[in-house]
Amino acid sequence: MDMKRKLESLNEFFRIPGELEFELRGSQIFAKISGSLSSAEICLHGAHVMSFVPRGGRDLLWLSSKSWFEKEKPIRGGIPVCWPWFGPHSSLKDAPSHGFARISEWNLKSAECLPDGSYALVFSLSPNDFSEKFWNFQFSLELKALISSKLRVELNCRNIGDKSFEFSAALHSYFSVSDISKVQIGGLDGVSYTETAGGASDDLIQNGAISFSAETDRVYRDSEADCVIRDPGFKRAIRVAKSGSRSTVVWNPWIAKSARMPDFGDDEYLGMLCIEAANCGRDIVRLEPGQSHCLATILSAE
Ligand code: BG6
Repeated sequence: MDMKRKLESLNEFFRIPGELEFELRGSQIFAKISGSLSSAEICLHGAHVMSFVPRGGRDLLWLSSKSWFEKEKPIRGGIPVCWPWFGPHSSLKDAPSHGFARISEWNLKSAECLPDGSYALVFSLSPNDFSEKFWNFQFSLELKALISSKLRVELNCRNIGDKSFEFSAALHSYFSVSDISKVQIGGLDGVSYTETAGGASDDLIQNGAISFSAETDRVYRDSEADCVIRDPGFKRAIRVAKSGSRSTVVWNPWIAKSARMPDFGDDEYLGMLCIEAANCGRDIVRLEPGQSHCLATILSAE
């Protein structure tokens, strides 16, 4: 179905006038939710949350002005769904970074307004010609976005085949901050981590809050703790809670890497940082036939 017809049929089927509408950005369709508790935008490409604005506040999420909104290219910003591998593929050179889920077209299964004024949207992804080029297991993937005064994003994966498989994953949230040099992240004091920026260093221990003065690309291990971004410039704190995740990734590309990325403005590293609810590195998930796993992140402004 072409995009225009698909847009019409989504609006015909799911539209709630003034509250839930479907629109186009670039060549991609997204759901625009305007509720009494918050507003949000979620693209069908990648089941990608692009924006979440609590009532009376500013967007918690950051989206690059240079982002692509094109088939088989990832959106830069918001919450990319990295699955079923994190980072580069371990052996296939042509496989996309961070898996195929974020560059696949998801199906919208349901969209409803709940009695408390929140909205629940459920997207699904099944094996298809594109995914089978890289990954030959039978899976069922669902992403549920619950939009209220908080944003809850759940990634449910089920092994529906007869072979066990292993995966890594991340809900790779990009947050909007006033000034990267003035914000701090609390919650990971004493947690061990690997730093991959500037040459890999393993088994480091976080001492106090995280602050940024150079490229930062870390996997914190064995931590289920909430993180809190303290942002004096925006006079807000963002709480990043999670479940089903033993790794937390913290990333800012800083100057040189920003300049190397074609879908990222040279100075945009100043206004963003990533905290990712993940299962990666040593922390991968194994699912036997019939088993499932739920990875969730819950974002709120305080
Ligand atoms: C982070 C990784 O999660 O994602 C970084 O830790 C990577 O190493 C970043 O550079 C962005 O990845 P991509 O594929 O979206 O450019």
